[in-house]
Amino acid sequence: MEGKREQWGSQFGFLMAMAGSAIGLGNIWRFPYIAGQYGGAAFLVFYLIVVFTFGLSIAIAEWSIGRAGRSDSVGSFKKLGGGLWTIVGWFSFVSAFVILSYYSVVAGWIIYYIKYSFTGLMDAVCHGSSEATFWSLITNPVKSVMLQLIIMLIAVGVAIKGVSSGIEKMCKFLMPALFVILLMLIGRSLTLPGSFEGVKFYLVPDFSKLGLEGMFAASAQAFFSLSIASGTGLTYGSYLRKDDKIIKLAPIVVFFDTLIAFLSGLVIFPTCMSVGVVPDVGPGLTFITLPGVFAKMHFGRMFAIAFFILFFIAAITSVIGLFEPVVAYGVDQMKLSRKTSAIVMGILVFALGVPSALAETSLIPKIFGKNFLEAADFVINGWLVPITAILICIFVGWVWTKGAKDEVTNEGKVRFKLYPVWLFICRVIAPIMLTVLLINGGKW
Ligand code: PFF
Repeated sequence: MEGKREQWGSQFGFLMAMAGSAIGLGNIWRFPYIAGQYGGAAFLVFYLIVVFTFGLSIAIAEWSIGRAGRSDSVGSFKKLGGGLWTIVGWFSFVSAFVILSYYSVVAGWIIYYIKYSFTGLMDAVCHGSSEATFWSLITNPVKSVMLQLIIMLIAVGVAIKGVSSGIEKMCKFLMPALFVILLMLIGRSLTLPGSFEGVKFYLVPDFSKLGLEGMFAASAQAFFSLSIASGTGLTYGSYLRKDDKIIKLAPIVVFFDTLIAFLSGLVIFPTCMSVGVVPDVGPGLTFITLPGVFAKMHFGRMFAIAFFILFFIAAITSVIGLFEPVVAYGVDQMKLSRKTSAIVMGILVFALGVPSALAETSLIPKIFGKNFLEAADFVINGWLVPITAILICIFVGWVWTKGAKDEVTNEGKVRFKLYPVWLFICRVIAPIMLTVLLINGGKW
């Protein structure tokens, strides 16, 4: 049974799939606006420190657990830790499941924006407002649910094809495409008149805006962006070969994830500033502000189409990444075939996503002031993901220490000069920092 586990076709394929999971809504939608909000380059500097210390260390830990366990998250923790440690596997599974349920809703909105960019978006935005366009979408129950359904159908289709011929093949094609579109968009945005103001706004550091709150925001963003502690890294890691070098692959993924986040800011801020829109507007940036900006630009329609396609590629490869831990659970724990697992899990995730798709309609009540989507995001990313990350660190740092050392050094065959630093981060620094993050960031 063990020998039959699927594997990535190549290290490049794994890199594209893992980068595909990491690079998502978080990079294109959330990173630029929180960077703008918390002091531009000041935020960036702090963010870089977090991703290349804690983020990288936990990613290495998680992938190692997956490769050593050669199973889904629950199976891997059961095998390597047993007993109560299995719960950590469950936490990862639940995180992936719940994040996917609402992430697929937001990904669905992008399909609408791509289609609408070809047809009436620019006119609608010119004659009405981009805010009204967005609200009429998210308060329309049929549209929201159907769009989420389309996303889940794509996810199920890719998952059925399998790790190498489904996920890997798709990401190997889409990720380079994303990069090319992004570079084209940057080329255009930086040559717009007045774009330099946007670059200044984005990159001139303002340390007074960072503060403790900005630091927490940076840390939470780093974990979300790197797809940490929510099953994907562990499950994708379980398809790595024994001789693949985790410690060489992980920095590459972290680097590209951070690069794309940084570069999408270089599209968004100069574009906004070129038409005089101040971009620190929060979550509405990509769905509300940007269409309004595109409508004011020459060739705005082309720009809008390219931007939303880019946004879609980023989102769908993350959807695929979030679905795999869920499908793998069905295959490894419930012994379902890949096809059955993908279909059954797809239906379940879709069902849980419906309240998120309807979150802004009157059909779903608010939960202590948050809509269902926001509440789900808060419970998982504010609480469950940090808790899981702390437990992963404690597990590799204190419990499965020898096994983890063998795994990250490929049984001593790979020199890992920074091993003591990595171990110290997992043992002490990351659990402390994450606890502080949890206590301060986890307020409703
Ligand atoms: N990293 C993705 C993003 O930045 O949008 C989101 C994500 C994907 C989170 C996969 C967690 C995960 F397991």
